[in-house]
Amino acid sequence: MKKILITGGAGFIGSHVVRLFVNKYSDYQIYNLDKLTYAGNLENLKDVEPKSNYQFVLGDITDEKFILELFQKEQFDGVIHLAAESHVDRSITNPNEFVVTNVLGTVNLLNAAKAIWKGKEEGKRFYHISTDEVYGTLGNEGLFTEVTSYDPHSPYSASKASSDHFVRAYGDTYGLPVIISNCSNNYGPNQFPEKLIPLFINNIRYNKPLPVYGKGVNVRDWLFVEDHATAIDVIYHNGDNGETFNIGGHNEWKNIDLIRVLCKVMDEKLGREPGTSEKLITYVTDRAGHDLRYAIDSSKLQRELGWKPSLQFEEGIEKTVDWYLANQEWLDGVTSGNYLNYYENMYGNR
Ligand code: NAD
Ligand code: DAU
Repeated sequence: MKKILITGGAGFIGSHVVRLFVNKYSDYQIYNLDKLTYAGNLENLKDVEPKSNYQFVLGDITDEKFILELFQKEQFDGVIHLAAESHVDRSITNPNEFVVTNVLGTVNLLNAAKAIWKGKEEGKRFYHISTDEVYGTLGNEGLFTEVTSYDPHSPYSASKASSDHFVRAYGDTYGLPVIISNCSNNYGPNQFPEKLIPLFINNIRYNKPLPVYGKGVNVRDWLFVEDHATAIDVIYHNGDNGETFNIGGHNEWKNIDLIRVLCKVMDEKLGREPGTSEKLITYVTDRAGHDLRYAIDSSKLQRELGWKPSLQFEEGIEKTVDWYLANQEWLDGVTSGNYLNYYENMYGNR
């Protein structure tokens, strides 16, 4: 039985990856290592919890000793590393946390894998999940490819870029069997409502203002989270060591256009008059260092490994809205307590 460590499995994307692997590979033992920060929620994995090939490990990737002991004890065959601080706005107010978790945490995992796999690297794999934000920003033309130079602008993207460099360095220097993917913006069920789509769904529910940064002209390339999970599956199993793959759905939206679609779908689902939710749109102070446009060229992944996204955006956004409306308890649970302080700090003076 192969033992696979998935870090950050209680978070948004991680929970979809854990579910896919646990259900698809009954011959794998899946370990979900998560610190359960504000973004980690075991509710996301209720259906997976009883499965015999699934195990949750409460722990912190920044704890070097704990990580090494865990690797010594469990002798993992593979690692899929998603644990991170993931929200750009939080990185602007608290960059140090991003350095510690995203950079040092990743290096701790690399060191443990290097020590435990030394001389036995054959068949092992360290898969680092990264973001398109490491490439910086695009103008109106062009796409990020796997050879686009790194040019991060936020503390979040700088920390992810740094961790990517460490992963490649461990491949080059120590022969660690590493692989990286860089994905565009994900959306779908279980995303913490600090990110655009779930934040706006939640605000529409309560008729709260929809805080659009700047003029709403920034462009993001959106991928349904389950399609990211299937790409991770394909890359983990079929990609070559040392490779990088971009993941994206060729699905660019200007923020304000996406927000209008979201408002329309929400009005329909909530039985409100058309145009009701759009009235909540409020332009607020722009995000500092706000990247204008992200757009991913995922043709390498499609061509070499045969992956393609399964959903059109309209279908994905409807599925997403349906999920949040059917899971209002989940939404209420994660937006109580500390969330209220976060919201006041982030949006109080904008
Ligand atoms: P998330 O914030 O929803 O989840 C992160 C998870 O990591 C949480 O469960 C949290 O508890 C855990 N975690 C944080 N610090 C930890 C620590 N010190 N030790 C152990 N666990 C810890 O993030 P997400 O949006 O699911 O993103 C997952 C990964 O994918 C990140 O590496 C992110 O950079 C990358 N990514 C995200 C997107 C996106 O659109 N969300 C796109 C591309 C890449
Ligand atoms: O591109 C991949 C990245 O996508 C991931 O690496 C990050 O982890 C993930 O958070 C996401 O980053 P973004 O900054 O693009 O996502 P966010 O949902 O925060 O914002 C999307 C766009 O919406 C961005 O242009 C900022 C804007 N925005 C966001 C919020 C939260 C607003 O206008 N208002 C808001 O309140």
